[in-house]
Amino acid sequence: MKIDLILGLQWGDEGKGKIVDVLTNNYNIIARFQGGPNAGHTLEFDKIKHVLHTIPSGIFHENKLNVIGNGVVIDPVILKNEITKLHELDIDLRDKLLISRKAHLILPTHRLIDKASELSKGKKKIGSTLKGIGPTYMDKTGRNGLRVGDLELDGWEDKLKALTKKHLNLIKNFNVKFDYNVKVLLKEFDDSIKFLKKIKFIDSEHFLNQAISDGKKILGEGAQGSLLDVDFGTYPFVTSSNTTSAGACTGLGIAPNRIDKVFGIFKAYTTRVGSGPFPTELFDKVGERIAKVGNEFGATTGRPRRCGWLDLVSLKHSISVNGVTDLIMMKGDVLSGIDKLKICTKYDYNGEIVDYLPFSIDKKNIKPIYEEVCGWNEDITNAQSYKELPLNFKNYINFLEDRLKLKIKIVSVGPDRKQTIFIS
Ligand code: GDP
Ligand code: IMO
Ligand code: MG
Repeated sequence: MKIDLILGLQWGDEGKGKIVDVLTNNYNIIARFQGGPNAGHTLEFDKIKHVLHTIPSGIFHENKLNVIGNGVVIDPVILKNEITKLHELDIDLRDKLLISRKAHLILPTHRLIDKASELSKGKKKIGSTLKGIGPTYMDKTGRNGLRVGDLELDGWEDKLKALTKKHLNLIKNFNVKFDYNVKVLLKEFDDSIKFLKKIKFIDSEHFLNQAISDGKKILGEGAQGSLLDVDFGTYPFVTSSNTTSAGACTGLGIAPNRIDKVFGIFKAYTTRVGSGPFPTELFDKVGERIAKVGNEFGATTGRPRRCGWLDLVSLKHSISVNGVTDLIMMKGDVLSGIDKLKICTKYDYNGEIVDYLPFSIDKKNIKPIYEEVCGWNEDITNAQSYKELPLNFKNYINFLEDRLKLKIKIVSVGPDRKQTIFIS
């Protein structure tokens, strides 16, 4: 037995939460491998919408285990809220949520450093979700972090005190002004730690490798998207973890030769929230229409998402760095009624035609080169099978499969679990 992965191929929000939920039936364990509560994974069924930030998207199924891996950074305050919301829906997590002892904790002062850093950057800000992600990973790689497993040992409070003091000094050096009350934040943190301690902590790399050896099927759930990867994304406008398949190896302790399928998810168009280059971004009525029909607002921050045409140059880059084996296309329904659809297939990079993602995709270096295909007018949100989809929709799929040299195995035609079509 091996592990399969699901990860986003664009700038996040591709619909990972929905598809993980749909595919959970085929697995025993769902394991999040990186990121933190900067993620917002949306699931919809029985007319109710759920947004998860830290908890894996398999949580609504019975008899499945959900593991928060060592590569994830956990804000106990946010996790407590997430769990409380699920309790209100009578979902008992005691036996199905497990947390890696090696996962790092986001402290209240990590959030404050995030804010100070962004304020100090002014117009050059990353557009961070301000959840403390970057500062927490900095303390992880700087070997200063506080881990979930530390909470079971003596002395973690002293470590917290020392780190908090160091952080507060650091914040002063940013020379920016904003209000915060450390005492209140630390009290809230302390309460949430008491809550967190009721959840089962595990040595997740041992647990997951043993599970594979025992014949259990595992699905690794990524957060963010490949273009936000700290190495292969649009640096510095990225997040602070490896969102690509390598991040699943380090974020779960699973070796590369134990990875089987890599499901790569993309939207039928492109979106981005936060700052940074976006070659196919639209600033016209079509962009506004996609944003409106697609309801493109961040699931974590509520910020409007920037929208644009599908970009095959960046998709190819993501497919290659992840080793994608199967494609999943989301939100095709949002494009219904647009006469002509543009697809970026190459870039003009300072006068040279290229079909790969160069070092800088800044506006001043890159002009997208488009091919045009006919759109479809039909509402496809009620389609139940591939054969019910309009011819031009199928042509769109064929065009993409031909250019990307991979099969699209699932298309999603609406936010609900049921609006999912498997292509055999
Ligand atoms: P994630 O972060 O990758 O899990 O994606 P998000 O949940 O942040 O954003 C995806 C949004 O699109 C959510 O609001 C979903 O409910 C919605 N969604 C997912 N699939 C589809 C689809 O096929 N069609 C439409 N119209 N909405 C979808
Ligand atoms: P999911 O898992 C979309 C973006 C932020 C910002 C940059 C850095 O829901 O797809 P950070 O908070 O990590 O310091 O922000 O990354 N970002 C996301 N955009 N979806 C996400 O997660 C994101 N997580 C972070 O908007 O541009
Ligand atoms: Mg999201």
